[in-house]
Amino acid sequence: MAAIVTLPTLHPDQVRIFKDRTRRNAVRCGRRWGKDVLENTLAADRATKGRKVGIFTPEHKQTAEPYSALLQILAPIRGRSNRTDGLITTTTGGIIDFWSTNNNLLAGRGREYDLVMVNEAAYTKTPEMLEEVWEKAIEPTLATTNGEVWIFSTPKGIDPNNFFYWASNSKSITRPLLPIRTSKRTFWQSAKRSARRWFISRNIWRNSSIGRAKRFSR
Ligand SMILES: Nc1ncnc2c1ncn2[C@@H]1O[C@H](COP(=O)(O)OP(=O)(O)O)[C@@H](O)[C@H]1O
Ligand SMILES: [Mg+2]
Repeated sequence: MAAIVTLPTLHPDQVRIFKDRTRRNAVRCGRRWGKDVLENTLAADRATKGRKVGIFTPEHKQTAEPYSALLQILAPIRGRSNRTDGLITTTTGGIIDFWSTNNNLLAGRGREYDLVMVNEAAYTKTPEMLEEVWEKAIEPTLATTNGEVWIFSTPKGIDPNNFFYWASNSKSITRPLLPIRTSKRTFWQSAKRSARRWFISRNIWRNSSIGRAKRFSR
């Protein structure tokens, strides 16, 4: 029997950022822009396709909302799940691991991911996140997969040792620049743009590789 997973319909700015993506993306946006919605959409899409996803937030408490949202989106293909361990698997072979990075030098260590996402990245600990957690634990999870990175946050001042400041500004060779995507609009401001733009972007989204709804045979 076919199982249908329905992904959120992205708003025009989210679509634009998704279409402009590269292997490494830093998304610097205001509060309520829809960073969580975009992150959940990417995670659900990749897990549906049988990929391995690591979601990182500064505090453990911040894993609760994405965990619940993804459990709901992936309900039709849900495999094992455990809130305490921060784990959701799908019947299509996908895995989503949830990690907190504050006081956790081992976050992600020893794992392998096709997609790594860090949310509220400016609020991770400085300089531990950049020097220890990212370089020694998280980035190596992408070594064998050549995986994709999305780093989301509202900015928090100028500090080259801050993980998000680095992610969105560094030009050095050893720490290559992550292309930055920005938007000052909130979800509602975006939603208020003309109906025509909505129509166009919704169609682009439907026709794009990530799709709005996916079908899978069990
Ligand atoms: N594409 C979307 N479709 C419907 N609602 C959205 C979309 N993007 C964001 N929202 C809504 O806007 C609000 C803020 O989104 P959220 O992802 O929490 O923003 P952020 O993480 O940037 O603060 C939430 O109520 C969310 O449900
Ligand atoms: Mg958020």
